Amino acid sequence: MYWEELEQQCINCRKCAIGNKRTNCVFGCGNKNADIMFIGEAPGQSEDAEGIPFVGLAGKHLDKFLCAVGINREDVYIANILKCRPDNNRDPLPEEQENCINYLREQVKLVRPKLIVCLGRISAMKLIKPDFKITKEHGIFFKKGAFTITAVYHPAALLRDPSKNQDMYTDMKKIAEFIKA
Ligand code: URA
Repeated sequence: MYWEELEQQCINCRKCAIGNKRTNCVFGCGNKNADIMFIGEAPGQSEDAEGIPFVGLAGKHLDKFLCAVGINREDVYIANILKCRPDNNRDPLPEEQENCINYLREQVKLVRPKLIVCLGRISAMKLIKPDFKITKEHGIFFKKGAFTITAVYHPAALLRDPSKNQDMYTDMKKIAEFIKA
């Protein structure tokens, strides 16, 4: 499936009630041939307004880490499990994740990254394993079929608890080194 067709399907999608409430479908952005794909949870208010993932406060915090380990944001691809903003930024419902996951699967097949990085617990539970424990398992590399996949703390969680920033830096360094190898 081609990018434009996939994005159009996503824009037209009304499988979930939140599809009728969104301002924009937040499909994904970045380098379509990226070595790394970052996958968050769902768009927030700023993302919904702009139609681009991770452009709000959490996104700015992510940008700092990318910069600190020498990764250019333009070189990576960024998307979310959900393409529409859940009301009041609540966690995505399991049925919303199921409704939306195929768009992400197609994006992953098209990008074919060397590494998938889950941003936060929700993304890791959907993409790595349902019982993923972010505090214990962040920074561990898993093999899933043809893909290597890891998870780091969600940047919004780091803003709430800055004591996790050091772990995030260590994980991001490891990610940057894996890509260079
Ligand atoms: N949080 C996410 O998980 N994704 C975004 O795009 C923004 C905030």
